[in-house]
Amino acid sequence: MRLDIITAVPELLESFFQNSIVKRAQDKQLAEIHLHNLHDYGIGKYKQIDDYPFGGGAGMVLMIEPIAQIIRQLQAERTYDEIIYTAPDGGRFDQKTANKLSLAGNIIILCGHYKGVDERIRETFITREISIGDYVLSGGELAAAVISDAIIRLLPGVLGDETSALTDSFQDNLLAPPVYTRPSEWEGQPVPPVLLSGHDAKIQDWRYEQSVERTRERRPDLLGGE
Ligand code: ADE
Repeated sequence: MRLDIITAVPELLESFFQNSIVKRAQDKQLAEIHLHNLHDYGIGKYKQIDDYPFGGGAGMVLMIEPIAQIIRQLQAERTYDEIIYTAPDGGRFDQKTANKLSLAGNIIILCGHYKGVDERIRETFITREISIGDYVLSGGELAAAVISDAIIRLLPGVLGDETSALTDSFQDNLLAPPVYTRPSEWEGQPVPPVLLSGHDAKIQDWRYEQSVERTRERRPDLLGGE
């Protein structure tokens, strides 16, 4: 998978991509991440990337030309399966979307900033608009990091234990069951005995029941409830 991320603040993402699971994926050559600094494509002597909104109002709007130039340059080099824009008015990001995006080959993520981007960018280039939750961030970079992490950890070979992404919370719309490690008893609190039984089928049944119970208690909406 190749991810091209367009941002006005690449510094915000550099350390993330050099330290996280995403770094491991890059070292194993399972993912390639390229950060593109919008300022390198700015207009004129001052490398302008944003301007006042037509009609007035607060905040600056990212201009069309620098973004269009990067996207067109990238598209001339390869085909992209998705061009994502991160914004609070996008569709809500969830595990289902992460699963789907993890099957893509090449993805561009355009990080929103300031008051947004000129609407014509969205209309012309963007195939998917994503919000990571009902709150407003100061920029789309954190959202791009969240989306990249959620997608890349699903690529085969990225996680040490091949099955671990399949047992995550939200796969099958269930939260993950509780987990325990040594010691088997701590300050009078024992680990559920079934986990020490060595009986694999019973353990799987118990985990499934715990997942359903936990989901019913904490996130009934995932089970189709209220
Ligand atoms: N940019 C600002 N807020 C955002 C959000 N909630 N999700 C994605 N991008 C954003």
